[in-house]
Amino acid sequence: MDAASPLKKQKLPPFDLNAADASLTRPEAPRVDIPATNPSTDGPIADVSPTEPEPLIAGMTSALPDGPAQSSPNPSPPENTPRPLMILRSGIPPGLSPRAQRAWEHYRKLGSPWRIVAPMVDQSELPFRMLCRKHGADAAYTPMLHSRLFVDSERYRKEHFTTCPEDRPLFVQFCANNPDTLVEAARYVEPYCDYIDLNLGCPQAIAKRGNYGSFLMDDLPLVRSIVSALSAASSVPVACKIRMFPSIDDTIAYARMLEEAGCQLLAVHGRTRDQKSARLTADWHVIKAVREAVSIPVLANGNIRNLSDVRACMAFTGADGVLSADTLLEDPAMFGREIDPPAEISGRVSEALDVPQPGTWHALPLMTPPDVIDVTIEYLEMVKKYPVPMRMVKGHMFKLLGGWFRVHTDLRDGLNQQQPATVDYIINMCKEMAQRNAADPLLRPLPDPRRQTPPEGKTMKKIIEAAVEKAGEAIDPPAGKGAKTASEYREQRLQLGKVAVRA
Ligand SMILES: Cc1cc2nc3c(=O)[nH]c(=O)nc-3n(C[C@H](O)[C@H](O)[C@H](O)COP(=O)(O)O)c2cc1C
Repeated sequence: MDAASPLKKQKLPPFDLNAADASLTRPEAPRVDIPATNPSTDGPIADVSPTEPEPLIAGMTSALPDGPAQSSPNPSPPENTPRPLMILRSGIPPGLSPRAQRAWEHYRKLGSPWRIVAPMVDQSELPFRMLCRKHGADAAYTPMLHSRLFVDSERYRKEHFTTCPEDRPLFVQFCANNPDTLVEAARYVEPYCDYIDLNLGCPQAIAKRGNYGSFLMDDLPLVRSIVSALSAASSVPVACKIRMFPSIDDTIAYARMLEEAGCQLLAVHGRTRDQKSARLTADWHVIKAVREAVSIPVLANGNIRNLSDVRACMAFTGADGVLSADTLLEDPAMFGREIDPPAEISGRVSEALDVPQPGTWHALPLMTPPDVIDVTIEYLEMVKKYPVPMRMVKGHMFKLLGGWFRVHTDLRDGLNQQQPATVDYIINMCKEMAQRNAADPLLRPLPDPRRQTPPEGKTMKKIIEAAVEKAGEAIDPPAGKGAKTASEYREQRLQLGKVAVRA
């Protein structure tokens, strides 16, 4: 990618709640007002100078200490200060507890990150985080790490957690159902991260069997004890990532309980445990209610497909930032794209402030960005620098290049057959793909028909036909591979779509 690329890392301002439009200028004053002076003694909060020692990883690219880091426990035990009802939008919030103030100081010290790479098992690994950071992400979560395995197995630690000095701010996420185990696991990573996050959202069967993630919502006293223990013992602030309860009141009570237990940052995924599909619209109303109910920074999660959605979500919910998962997998440069690609290329339609109805099905449109092959090669170069297991790399390839693999099925099959595949093999494959695309400018990436909304009565065939129709509509005269007429071209694309569906 050349230096003039619009995708190079830009520092973009967050949404200004007070502005009439989504101004691109960073607001002068923070949206959530932090007192200019800390009434409890500490002096100006805006001028917090880092007091922690430098992390021990200068010059390190990928390593963990052999034993737990020897960090001192948090000198302040959990407080029972009553939580203020809500943070005011202006002035000094009355009754902000010292812990809530510390939460804000820490968040501000990190630069108030607002475009954040969500935790993704096997997919938010170091090279992917670094790629997203390069293209606009302000912070990133690691994939969920299993706290017991992390404590028990050096091999697990080395495979699943790698970092580098530039990989900050970093949220390290664990799943846990035992406070002591989590505290011990956290010791290993404290020097390398800015938050230790507890996964309270995983809805998968494996989490049910292991009694972690969203299944801890059935045992809130246990959740409280885990968060309290970690908050008391860790030198790094505790964050939690939650799903909502079916009832908004329960969700609010849950969020408040977490804050009281010592959570200093809350990420709220606006779906319930049963809403597993990314096609079910997340509920921004609940996120807004949580944001108003707690005093700590809140991040919103769900339904972010582009930068306009980021701003719309922050404006609507009042959240301090967003997490994105699915979209970043297909468009790691999303956070840095100030101008969304034209709808006819991306198929995206920003819903802006038109907040989607929660719980309804919504289409995840074709997201293949025009520069996806360049970005993929950038990712592969990152992998050379920060090696990770090939299963993670391949997982990214099918997400990033999925639209093009449905056109160049032979390249997809070739990659599938490579055992083991090498990074150089995949880079060459990308180059071949780019050459073919350059030679046939009429080619378009094909959308994944499984991602389209299945409206009542529509068969998969109809969905594919609609997608192919869209991909082929610009063709006049037809010049597809060997196709002599427009209908032949579309038929050809339809066949490709069918192959992709079967695969
Ligand atoms: C491949 C993948 C892996 C995920 N792994 C995790 C995880 O390790 N921990 C977690 O809390 N959430 C995980 N999630 C959920 C996301 O962090 C996020 O909450 C969810 O996808 C909704 O965000 P989105 O609408 O931007 O995709 C994962 C999601 C995906 C797509």
